[in-house]
Amino acid sequence: MAPSYLLLVALAVFLKAPPASAQDKKIPDFIKLCKRSDPQLNECITDSVEHLKPALEKGVEGIVPSLEPLRMNEVPIIDNNGLRIVGKDVKTYGCSDFRIFNMKADVGSKMDLEFDLELPMLYTVAQYEVSGRILLIPIKGNGPFYGNWSECTAHVTLDGDLEDRSGFKFVRFNTLRIVFTMGKGRVELRNLFNGDKVLGDAVNSAINSNFKQVLKELQHPIEKALEDAILEIANDCVRDFTYDQLFPLE
Ligand SMILES: *[C@@H]1O[C@H](CO)[C@@H](O)[C@H](O)[C@H]1NC(C)=O
Repeated sequence: MAPSYLLLVALAVFLKAPPASAQDKKIPDFIKLCKRSDPQLNECITDSVEHLKPALEKGVEGIVPSLEPLRMNEVPIIDNNGLRIVGKDVKTYGCSDFRIFNMKADVGSKMDLEFDLELPMLYTVAQYEVSGRILLIPIKGNGPFYGNWSECTAHVTLDGDLEDRSGFKFVRFNTLRIVFTMGKGRVELRNLFNGDKVLGDAVNSAINSNFKQVLKELQHPIEKALEDAILEIANDCVRDFTYDQLFPLE
């Protein structure tokens, strides 16, 4: 038999070897398991998510990306009356320091979670780009953006289901809805009007004293950006483990 033929057979056998079974992947310590039949399932899942915090803070190589910072590519900050300010390369810190409560979980044939989050203190660092008019003065430019947000809460609805992958059931989250409420906030846009301090301060204090109004316009874009970022992280947390591993029957 020609050696090249043998090589082909060997290669074919090698390629046909089943991939390492999903079940071989060991559940890491940072995932606290809940039995499907647990009569206190909501409490168990709440504890389990609390238990994830250190992993979410620092990230776990190859499984969970760090939540610190939470990154968003682009968030509109203001978009009205001919003035447009967008934040780019937005990094928000403090998201892993949450408290979770009011959990309602359905982990039967569906994978639906609904809960509230409290985020005591967040801060954001970004680059803003501004164009339009401020105080009737045409303006176009960019600079550093800083924001502090306190007493934020979020109502989170995460809907998923079970998908079949190579004969095993896996959890997949399909949609995430976040209703975000910000308590207090203060922002600072540096280097407005090429660093003119008087104009810059005037604009910053105008934004901050109308914060509730500014926030109303910001709410949906922020929610959308959070939804996209967090849905991906939620799927990263469960992607590698089977449903039976994550929610054992017994
Ligand atoms: C955010 O809070 C920090 C710490 O209290 C403070 O130094 C900073 O100036 C604040 N930034 C804004 C934009 O208010």
